[in-house]
Amino acid sequence: MIIAVDGPAASGKGTIARALAEHFGLPHMDTGLLYRAVALNLWRWGGDPASEFEALRACDMLNIDPDDEELRSEPVSRIASSISAYPAVRTALRERQEEFAGQAGGAVLDGRDIGTVIAPEADVKLFVTASPEVRAERRTRELEQRGMPAHFDDVLADIRARDERDSEREAAPLRAASDALVLDTSQLDAKAAVAEAVRLVEERLGDA
Ligand code: CDP
Repeated sequence: MIIAVDGPAASGKGTIARALAEHFGLPHMDTGLLYRAVALNLWRWGGDPASEFEALRACDMLNIDPDDEELRSEPVSRIASSISAYPAVRTALRERQEEFAGQAGGAVLDGRDIGTVIAPEADVKLFVTASPEVRAERRTRELEQRGMPAHFDDVLADIRARDERDSEREAAPLRAASDALVLDTSQLDAKAAVAEAVRLVEERLGDA
């Protein structure tokens, strides 16, 4: 069983994907981490995010430590958002994701293009969204908790800019697959959002 969870920044897709993986006993991949790891490589090595060629080189020897705080830092988030528009970067990261999705027993993957590009055959596709203001509120709190204080207005501007870049890019733009179930978490806390996601997945599986 493959569950694809897509959606914009800070929509709650990561929390939902992790909880679904736990609930259904499936392995989980946060594909945003791949793009963040490429961005971090590029940043550490002083590469130019405006160069597709240099971004592609940063895809080599990708060692990902999910606990590395720098993966979620502001500069790395910004670079991740811009290098993820390069088709060469997306292609370089594709096989890893397809293999993960195709493993025996299934998997949960979250990202931007799982239901549309990486696993269009997924059994269940969720598109998790929330208003930009709610997402900015969440991200501001999350950054504060990580000891990286941020201003709501800056975070909101950043989220709007990232939404636009992610949706307008030509390579695998952010959009709900035509057969995705849309889950708006604007009015839901994490617990309620997870409960609703489990309900939607079970309902879809029951229909199938
Ligand atoms: O949750 P948040 O949007 O802050 O970050 P993320 O999911 O870790 O993704 C980081 C960046 O990678 C985003 O800005 C996306 O542009 C990009 N990304 C992508 O293009 N495709 C994916 N499957 C996952 C992330």
